[in-house]
Amino acid sequence: MAEQATAQIGVTGLAVMGRNLARNLARNGFTVAVHNRTPARTRSLVAEHGDEGTFVPGETMADFVASLERPRAVIVMVKAGAPTDAVIDELVPLLEEGDIIVDCGNAHFADTRRREEALRAQGLHFSGTGVSGGEEGALLGPSIMPGGSAESYAKLGPMFEKIAAHVDGVPCCTHVGPDGAGHFVKMVHNGIEYADMQLIAEAYDLLRAGLDATPAEIAEIFRDWNNGELESFLIEITADVLAHTDAATGRSFVDIVQDRAEQKGTGRWTVQSALDLGIPITGIAEATFARSLSGHVDQREAARRAFPDAGEKWQVADRDAFVEDVRRALLASKIVAYAQGFDHIRAGSKEYAWDIDLGGTATIWRGGCIIRARFLNRIREAYDEQPDLPTLLVAPYFAEAVGAGVPSWRRVVADAARAGVPTPAFSSSLAYFDALRAERLPAALIQGLRDNFGAHTYQRVDRAGSFHTTWAGDRTESPA
Ligand code: 6PG
Repeated sequence: MAEQATAQIGVTGLAVMGRNLARNLARNGFTVAVHNRTPARTRSLVAEHGDEGTFVPGETMADFVASLERPRAVIVMVKAGAPTDAVIDELVPLLEEGDIIVDCGNAHFADTRRREEALRAQGLHFSGTGVSGGEEGALLGPSIMPGGSAESYAKLGPMFEKIAAHVDGVPCCTHVGPDGAGHFVKMVHNGIEYADMQLIAEAYDLLRAGLDATPAEIAEIFRDWNNGELESFLIEITADVLAHTDAATGRSFVDIVQDRAEQKGTGRWTVQSALDLGIPITGIAEATFARSLSGHVDQREAARRAFPDAGEKWQVADRDAFVEDVRRALLASKIVAYAQGFDHIRAGSKEYAWDIDLGGTATIWRGGCIIRARFLNRIREAYDEQPDLPTLLVAPYFAEAVGAGVPSWRRVVADAARAGVPTPAFSSSLAYFDALRAERLPAALIQGLRDNFGAHTYQRVDRAGSFHTTWAGDRTESPA
């Protein structure tokens, strides 16, 4: 049993993310209670990293909780789902009113809302906190997205803001909003991560097909792009991965990896939630489906046999112009993905009354997280200038970037279609852009069809109200 309650915060679940978060807290001067279901892991953390700060190891959950100052703050860093509920159930009887449980896993925001409500009824705070940045981020400075009560943030905020990544002296951590807000924002972050990665992958595929270039040559192009508007962590590591040679075969690493992308589910959750909220996040959806499609090996094999050589051989006349076209198309499509992601956050915030600050969200994604990118500064500026911006696409910086990229975007998508190179995210982003800016959409015809077969009614452009035409009868129109 710990002699006295000295720890400012505790971490239970010491797999790599929990371990690195605990070390980050200790390195920043906080006294950290640590606990793991298998105590050997707790001991090894203290043995290997005890000199980095002050750890208070707890062999049992009771020891661990007893070593925490009140109000107690306990970070739970276990697998999302049933394991999280199991740890919460074990913790609750040991806690007292006002104590805080922090779930730093990738939980579904609906689970977070359920847990928060149940724990609130027992006088406890529950902070569903998104953490992005992978293993290294957890140790050196992640982007942190805490949800939950303002009281819980009063205790957690100073610690989280200190251990988070900082950009221009500003921490990549802010109180996102009540109950599920933090995990919702983390979920959309991951959805954007899927879109970003799919767009990068398509750009690579286009360059490879159009230029007949090697992965190492394409790595150089990405390296160059990373010096401009596209500068981001994902572009940077794309250059690294493409330049890597497989030691066993001497071949390009990207050519020896099976072309089936996996997923743990956060992209799928993002799409499911967007469908519920009626927000077209087409880039994220295409990215998620592209991963699924890649895994349908039998269908791919059958289609490959049935339709060999579907496209014309691609011949790019001007190499530099083509590379610039792909860069502009990538930037424009990426802007669409972020515009859609931020629309999704705004809709979630309204639906669940979270009052999420969109500019603040862009601010905490500037560093630490997987989608960190130079242009998040521009997103922050756009929402700071006009919080009710209808879409990011019309904010001056983005409108200019997209406008300047349109001819390139069209050329790339059209050439890819002619050559039979699949570009689901590039193409759907362009279609989204064209649909948004269209004077008239064929949705009017859909309304006509719905009224024809199901008397679902329609609205007219010249008069208020709903109407129905008697399609099977004399085709007179009457107000519905
Ligand atoms: C992060 C990452 C992290 C994880 C992804 C991977 O922000 O640090 O998003 O949460 O690496 O969830 O997701 P998939 O396995 O679904 O690609």
